[in-house]
Amino acid sequence: MNTTEVKSLLCKALREKPETLRASRKMGNIDFAKLRHMGLNENVFGMSPKALEAISEASPVSNLYADWTQKDLKEAIAENFGLTTEYVTTGCGSSAMIDAMGTAFLDPGDELMLCMPTFPAIIDTAQMHGATVKIIQMKDDLKFDLAKMLLEITEKTKMVYICNPNNPTGTYIGIDELRKFAESCPDDVIQVYDEAYIEFSDAPDCQSIVECMKELPEKPIIALKTFSKFYGMAGVRVGYALAQPEISTWLAKCGTQFGVSKTSQAAAAAAIKDKEHGAYVHEQVVRGRDYLAKEMKALGCDVYDSQTNFIFFNAHVDPVEVQYRMMEKGIFISAQAGMNRVSVSYMEDCERFIMYLAEIMHALKATA
Ligand SMILES: Cc1ncc(COP(=O)(O)O)c(C=O)c1O
Repeated sequence: MNTTEVKSLLCKALREKPETLRASRKMGNIDFAKLRHMGLNENVFGMSPKALEAISEASPVSNLYADWTQKDLKEAIAENFGLTTEYVTTGCGSSAMIDAMGTAFLDPGDELMLCMPTFPAIIDTAQMHGATVKIIQMKDDLKFDLAKMLLEITEKTKMVYICNPNNPTGTYIGIDELRKFAESCPDDVIQVYDEAYIEFSDAPDCQSIVECMKELPEKPIIALKTFSKFYGMAGVRVGYALAQPEISTWLAKCGTQFGVSKTSQAAAAAAIKDKEHGAYVHEQVVRGRDYLAKEMKALGCDVYDSQTNFIFFNAHVDPVEVQYRMMEKGIFISAQAGMNRVSVSYMEDCERFIMYLAEIMHALKATA
């Protein structure tokens, strides 16, 4: 069969789906496997030693299916947030939870609203379900414009997505503003708060929506969480959603049967309890983030204050070229929305990155 013939077999939504907004990159002959990772917001400080131990223990009995009720994992997550397990739905990464939300809630003609630039997976999901996407301009400080979003809600609006703190900008909305927004949103609009990076924050008002979700049971609020970032388990694939039990029940019906593996469940349950490792990761990331921000500012970059494990910056030269030249020197960073984003790494890699960035900016400015 040729591509056209296969295309005629596709479901309507996929056939008509616009191109993805996910970042693409110029790779040339660069071997991605050999690069130092400072481009995907991974946690180089790794997972909890207790999670590694749990994987070793669970691994020999992986001939059996995992506990499909996910009792231990759900209990560990629920306890962490002062909830009961009915509030918790898990999946293979928060990506799987994004898919489940689309399956559960989005129909053709529904509208998803968000600000850009943000993490675009939810856009692909919405379009795969035939929903349309309304993009609201971010404010000049690259924060979600919640006031504008509220004004733009119509009877078509089915879901609003707020990434807090936001990827790729690193910026955040304080809890008072978020609470006002959550209270003001109509009861039939699903409010999704993607908190993939919130554990890295240190600003006192950068807080999870979970307490508001508890206090506003009439509002369909979903907090989206992951073990991929703060818990250093991107390759393990565990994410979860926290929502009122009435919502969680439906989300759970939309996941993959036997989705989260035995080893992944064991690792995640151990990781969320290991507060000592969490404190170590937090300290390392804040230290690296402060260093990168200070040094990039000294090089003349515009740097956006970040509450995450990455920094969004404008080096005032072509961001795709900065990314490519950085890869030639052995470091992978991201280029998107007309700027660059670098993830915090070991201090020696952060220092190397700053040295290379100075060289690249100098070379690009000389040829401009
Ligand atoms: C904001 C945000 N949400 C969700 C994800 C998906 O993460 P995962 O599927 O690994 O949990 C990412 C990944 O980079 C992200 O940046």
